[in-house]
Amino acid sequence: MFESLPTLRADPILGLMVAFRDDPNPAKVDLGVGVYRDDDGNTPILACVRAAQQRHNDTETTKSYIGPPGEAGFNDSMQHLLFGDAHNALVEQRVCSAQTPGGCGALRVAAELINRASPGAKIWVSEPTWDNHVPLLGDAGLSIATYPYFNRTDSELRFDEMMATLAQVGSGDLVLLHGCCHNPCGVDLDEEQWTALTELTAKQGFTPVIDIAYQGLSKGLQEDAFGVRLMAEKIPELLVASSCSKNFGLYRERVGCLAIVSDSARTSKTVLSQMLNVIRGIYSMPPNHGGAIVKMILQDPALTQQWHTELAQMRERINGLRDRLASMLAVRLDSKRFDFIRRQRGMFSFLGIEKDQIDRLRNEFSIYLVDSSRINVAGLNSHNIDYTCDAIVAVL
Ligand code: LMR
Repeated sequence: MFESLPTLRADPILGLMVAFRDDPNPAKVDLGVGVYRDDDGNTPILACVRAAQQRHNDTETTKSYIGPPGEAGFNDSMQHLLFGDAHNALVEQRVCSAQTPGGCGALRVAAELINRASPGAKIWVSEPTWDNHVPLLGDAGLSIATYPYFNRTDSELRFDEMMATLAQVGSGDLVLLHGCCHNPCGVDLDEEQWTALTELTAKQGFTPVIDIAYQGLSKGLQEDAFGVRLMAEKIPELLVASSCSKNFGLYRERVGCLAIVSDSARTSKTVLSQMLNVIRGIYSMPPNHGGAIVKMILQDPALTQQWHTELAQMRERINGLRDRLASMLAVRLDSKRFDFIRRQRGMFSFLGIEKDQIDRLRNEFSIYLVDSSRINVAGLNSHNIDYTCDAIVAVL
């Protein structure tokens, strides 16, 4: 049966993990897949996660099923994290949510649900967007269109062009937005731009889908949720896919959340019933472990505090690396060409170099980045940043 299928190339991001692992060069540098790394290049388990995991192991009483929505306590805590404690949408019981296998699970459930309500609906994604958005949404049956977002010439936002395109998008269509730390370009909307976009969304009547996979890694947990909270205030229907991979460092546990805001508590009940039915038909229910840890951290004030501290350390390290990389390249090149790196946020930026230069970085220096020239800034550290800067200068 399967002989008619072609053999596919490895995923552009995940394939790099394997290539990097197999590279014997001790000087190799992994700027590929988006995981946080400390100054020794490790992706540590957060201390708050270790403590919660220990407590969970000591107190867990059953391995019975948790059901399609996941843990109720997890869902409540995630809703508060996303929308804030006193958001009208929560007070009015217009938000339903489910614990999902990572942010990817949330996006796929969202896409299946949208396709059920409106088969083949068009979803507009930013140009560029995260590579995996396309199969996650498109394979569920949605049709994909793009709006301008990032200017590869000056590495800045194409806000006016984005707004002009979205001004042509009407109700029935959806628009995928990145809540913060845009993947792959690192360029985010500021508060004024979110406000203008929210007004346009209300006027045009399209439905926003916000992917927020990096809450807390740009400016702070509250600041990074500005767009989500504003849109949930002003727009009657909104889907939010969030991930605990990066901000809790729970990558392999696969924990995320799909939250949907509806215009009434009554509609919200219907949406929840459909969402749970979609989940049952794909993976039946989420794994428990990661969600149980997140719930424990968010429901225990001391663990929450510890998490905030550790999250701030990750954020400050990434922002510090951005400054350092931009400064070191400026000195070496006597140019501000890479200054945009310090203005961008989150793990990713495009270096904006050519494919043959990316290949040289990999083949001659064992420095791995995505073919689009996306780097994971968090892969830099005090041991490899000089080497990396020298290599970039050498291939330019
Ligand atoms: C990334 O963009 O590198 C991460 O989100 C990991 C992934 O699954 O692609």
